[in-house]
Amino acid sequence: MAMKKLSEDLIRQLKEKFFIDLKKVDSFESLEALKILYLGRKGEIRKLFHQLKDIDDIDERKRYGEILNSIVVEIEEILEKEFKRFKKDKEEYSFSLLEMSLPSANFQIGKIHPLQKVYNEIIEIFSYLGFDIQEGPEIEFEDYNFTMLNIPDDHPARDMQDTLYLNLPKTDKGKILLRTHTSPVQIRLMLSKKPPIKSIMPGRVFRNENLDATHSFNFHQVEGLVVDKNIKLSDLKGTLIYFVRLMFYEDIVCKFRQSYFPFTEPSLELDIQCLVCKGSGCSVCKYSGFVEILGCGMVHPQVLYNVGLGYEEYTGFAFGLGVERVTMLKYRIDNMRLFYENDLRFIKQF
Ligand code: DAH
Repeated sequence: MAMKKLSEDLIRQLKEKFFIDLKKVDSFESLEALKILYLGRKGEIRKLFHQLKDIDDIDERKRYGEILNSIVVEIEEILEKEFKRFKKDKEEYSFSLLEMSLPSANFQIGKIHPLQKVYNEIIEIFSYLGFDIQEGPEIEFEDYNFTMLNIPDDHPARDMQDTLYLNLPKTDKGKILLRTHTSPVQIRLMLSKKPPIKSIMPGRVFRNENLDATHSFNFHQVEGLVVDKNIKLSDLKGTLIYFVRLMFYEDIVCKFRQSYFPFTEPSLELDIQCLVCKGSGCSVCKYSGFVEILGCGMVHPQVLYNVGLGYEEYTGFAFGLGVERVTMLKYRIDNMRLFYENDLRFIKQF
């Protein structure tokens, strides 16, 4: 069929037809078909270009050439915009579809954090020995954290450099602070319950320290308290030796060393033989062959008195251990910061 002669009318009709066809486009694929129909090698516009040769007048041919070129540019721009729109829709659409044949993403399987592992083990050992588990608040009264534990006003532990005080009005139980140890839970327990008491109190504690290889501004402790009639130092020793044997290994060498805590009398520290050098001396144990693992002692009569317990009737022992410290010793980790970085390459080793 012979083509109509090239005219401005013909060009306008083609343009109108393009816009009508564009309205019918409802997918990326039909847009592609439209592009071929108009701009393809055998497309509608090409056909018009072919007719240029039939125009004799050079100026007229040039003018039509320019009109056709501008239409090509215009249609290309419109199509490009439409393509972008459909492409976005297509991506969103395919994203929302569950593509069952795709290989699954490479999931990283988590592991129990070494601190949590040791925490659980500590709880397990003491539960086996008949201890129950108690908890107290991380935000604490000065009286419970210090005064009632027989830590006098001028004790260095109260120094602003160690303790993080909250900017809150003072209460009838003193200032409000972030507990610096789990020992205030002992006070809360003895205030709320009559002996027999046999509890461990795990929790997070806070100190005004910079983070380095062996210090952190927050770490974890497990406090222990036994109060009853006739509790003796040998009960403390037996319990804690049993604990280190289960925590580390059966024939571990350990020793109690005299120490000082305001809330216990006598006060002791338990040292275990250095796991790195097996007692021959190294930088970890500062060439002493032993490392300290926890503080303990018989509950000071003043503390029993402060909570209203008759110290002639009751005696007790207490201990406090650092979970980070035990974990570092057990797994020979020399940098505390590793615990808080959550690097799976570290965590997966335990
Ligand atoms: N509260 C002590 C501290 O943070 C640890 C401690 C030592 C707790 C002796 C005790 C204890 O219950 O008897 O350093």
